[in-house]
Amino acid sequence: MTEGTEMPLKNDVFLRALLRQPTARTPVWMMRQAGRYLPEYRRVRERAGSFMALCRTPELACEVTLQPLERFALDAAILFSDILTIPDAMGLELEFVEGEGPRFGRPLRTAAAVRRLPIPDPERDLAYVPAAVRLIKRRLEGKVPLIGFAGSPWTLATYMVEGGGSREFRRIKGLLFEQPQVLHELLGKLADAVALYLNAQIAAGVDAVMIFDTWGGVLARHHYREFSLAYAGRVLAQLQCRREGRTIPTIFFTKGGGQWLEAMMDAGYDALGLDWTTDLGEARRRVGHRVALQGNLDPMTLYGPIEVIRAEVRRVLAEFGRGNGHVFNLGHGILPDVDPEHAGAMIAAVHEFSPAFHAISPEFSQESAL
Ligand code: CP3
Repeated sequence: MTEGTEMPLKNDVFLRALLRQPTARTPVWMMRQAGRYLPEYRRVRERAGSFMALCRTPELACEVTLQPLERFALDAAILFSDILTIPDAMGLELEFVEGEGPRFGRPLRTAAAVRRLPIPDPERDLAYVPAAVRLIKRRLEGKVPLIGFAGSPWTLATYMVEGGGSREFRRIKGLLFEQPQVLHELLGKLADAVALYLNAQIAAGVDAVMIFDTWGGVLARHHYREFSLAYAGRVLAQLQCRREGRTIPTIFFTKGGGQWLEAMMDAGYDALGLDWTTDLGEARRRVGHRVALQGNLDPMTLYGPIEVIRAEVRRVLAEFGRGNGHVFNLGHGILPDVDPEHAGAMIAAVHEFSPAFHAISPEFSQESAL
């Protein structure tokens, strides 16, 4: 894959937008685009037996990665996997309980356990992930770019210390206030593990990488810098963001991070993901030309009627305004009971409405025709 045999991409609108290069329209993909809202996904998951079996079988992970692309005119595929593969490979024994979400058989509860935590070798301990990437890249035949991803060190730490999902984050916040040096040790290890993991995905063929900082927004502002952002920066500093002369763009998404845009920019990623609570136009004015923006339709919009979905797509595009550097997405993952036709209407509306925000102005085109 990486030895000079790389297939040229037929559609690079997504990668160009991340690097703020000119495009004829706004690219679009959806967080969780391969997932339970698709009946064909539910069938393959049934066949796999469990969510983790699906992740661990490259042939099936490849199949579900490609499913949404067969239905919709998406501008990117995203590797089918999960952010919690790293803690699983560290020995925490990940399981998904039906209707309950992720849970660890052996959550992290002591400083000694943090000290003992191994840093996984992705080609040995997570070999199913680069294997899935290589297979998906072959099957994609350069149709669209493939996004690789990982959780942010802070978000991974919250799941590892809480032992699963959480509402109050009592254990991880307890650790933060009582033994911050232990938390720093954990976050440092996770940053190095995430960087190795993403570099393995890049070497296997992904065309862009995204960090999901789902729980960065639960921190106080100064703690966000110290415990989330600093380690997102430590990940980026170790990434090999070029392959065969091409740049591998990077995206950083903190849910609830819109209030800290300037700080997020300092982490150095090419693009920032925004949830729906931030005004995209205001965000654009704040970041200027320094980063691209990805987002930010409220995922609940997809429960509404098609006409409302179309109007909301137009509103998001207008909020960003004319010009380059916007990747259309939901502000968080698509929900499992959304009607796939409503997702299709959103994607079609981006294709229909966005060229007007990229067209060169009439005066300019007249001039260039002279
Ligand atoms: O299509 C894609 O976006 C790629 C696949 C992907 C999944 N998880 C598949 C998945 C990605 C990028 C993720 C990231 C992820 N996983 C995050 C960060 C993004 C976010 O949503 O904030 C987080 C926090 C996780 C952890 C996780 N995995 C949770 C909390 C859950 C259970 C919640 C739920 O939706 O049931 C999962 C399971 C999971 N990961 C599913 C999918 C499709 C559902 C599993 C199933 O089939 O039952």
